[in-house]
Amino acid sequence: MRKPGKGAANRGDDMDIVRRTEELRAALAQLRARVPRVAFVPTMGALHAGHLALVAEGLARADAVVASVFVNPTQFAPGEDFDRYPRQEEADARALAGAGCALLFAPTVEEIYPPGFATSVSVAGLSDAWEGKARPGHFTGVATVVTRLLLLVRPDVALFGEKDWQQLVIVRRLVADLALPVHIVGVPTVRDADGLALSSRNAYLSCKERRIAVALPQVLQATAERIEAGTDVAHALAAARSALEAAGFSAVDYVALVDPETLRPLARLDRPGRLLAAARLGSTRLLDNWPVGSR
Ligand code: PAF
Repeated sequence: MRKPGKGAANRGDDMDIVRRTEELRAALAQLRARVPRVAFVPTMGALHAGHLALVAEGLARADAVVASVFVNPTQFAPGEDFDRYPRQEEADARALAGAGCALLFAPTVEEIYPPGFATSVSVAGLSDAWEGKARPGHFTGVATVVTRLLLLVRPDVALFGEKDWQQLVIVRRLVADLALPVHIVGVPTVRDADGLALSSRNAYLSCKERRIAVALPQVLQATAERIEAGTDVAHALAAARSALEAAGFSAVDYVALVDPETLRPLARLDRPGRLLAAARLGSTRLLDNWPVGSR
């Protein structure tokens, strides 16, 4: 048997795929008998290099990585893209195995939400603004499924992308509040060569929209630099909104400078901040965020 070491549990081995929670328990018991530290990467599939960076970080921090692929219906509001969300389990499984994942949990909806399921987890305050305002109920769906997955997998460490900054902050809060015994690690956003943050939803963009999309990170970076150089925050944010509209975004849901942990707006840069933005290109919403004053 392979000697356990950091990330050694599955380099080049076949990855097990389980769909039922009893199978997951059995597979985890076998894995735990081989390795002391397990990392967890929850995903909704349609994997890209950003997800694989989470796996790589997991392998750096633990002996084996367990991933999940589950398109969670409760985090989509009625009328959102749940039905058309890209599903490509075979390709995802190949990518995860190639990245060194030991185990993939790919449950059905009934497995995660069995008949009679009646519990939800909601993180008050942090869930209300920004994405929470644009997508009511979204973060309760996220918090509920993340809690359920963490309790099923019981990892030592779980990895989340900084791309969804508000989600990361909410997950950290719920883990602290519920005293879940897991260390949450945020992993920096992976970007295309031109700077666009990788996202499974980028697949929805037409060629023309993809060309416009790059304005989002460019405007955020320029806005961060202007605020750091002393431009009035409200003025810089208004200019960012205008620049996104001028670039061709059909709507700008928000561009805000916030405290990175409380997510409350900052009227001035009196501590490190985070720019959060969401903007629409046709029916696709793009999110991004940028550090301000903390480099
Ligand atoms: O970030 C995601 O892909 C999802 O919100 C998550 C954390 C897997 C929960 O469904």
